[in-house]
Amino acid sequence: MIRKATVADVKKIQELINSFAKTNAVLPRSLNSVYENLRDFFIFESDENIFGCGALHITWDNLAELRSLVVHKEYQGKGIGKALVNECIKEARQLQVKKVFLLTENSGFFKKLGFAQVDKAALPHKIWSDCVECIQFPNCNEVAMVKDIE
Ligand SMILES: CC(C)(COP(=O)(O)OP(=O)(O)OC[C@H]1O[C@@H](n2cnc3c(N)ncnc32)[C@H](O)[C@@H]1OP(=O)(O)O)[C@@H](O)C(=O)NCCC(=O)NCCS
Repeated sequence: MIRKATVADVKKIQELINSFAKTNAVLPRSLNSVYENLRDFFIFESDENIFGCGALHITWDNLAELRSLVVHKEYQGKGIGKALVNECIKEARQLQVKKVFLLTENSGFFKKLGFAQVDKAALPHKIWSDCVECIQFPNCNEVAMVKDIE
């Protein structure tokens, strides 16, 4: 089941994200960051455990970022990642956001979902606030991808 996250989910969300952060697939998140951004999160739940999450973070009037998208290894390849992205896009549309972007090393997955690679410099400077906290910055292999959702 995919649903919006609640405060009761925060510790499990943080654990899941940080288990992938070790591979540099996503940025690690502090508990504080998950609490403060909790309303961004959708989770995939099964048997009262959380095996997937993804977040839609509003950046500006026409732009939102898809971030912290992870699916537990045992649940990958079952359409859960795609479903989480679709929920984020649905919410972005409801909020009248026009474009969703993300930074990733996994462009193949997002290309399949209709995202196109763009020059990182095309994105507003504001988005680098997370990047500068990353130990990979500025030598990371992530590419920027955007989907027009109008
Ligand atoms: C990327 C990730 C979220 C995908 O989740 P998932 O649940 O395994 O993906 P889905 O089953 O929903 O796949 C949807 C489609 O994308 C395809 N796909 C999945 N991973 C892919 C990849 N790495 N490259 C290309 N296509 C991929 C699937 O084959 C499927 O195609 P189909 O619709 O034609 O069957 C998951 O692999 C993951 O957590 N990876 C580690 C963390 C990560 O890289 N997160 C993204 C950070 S920006």
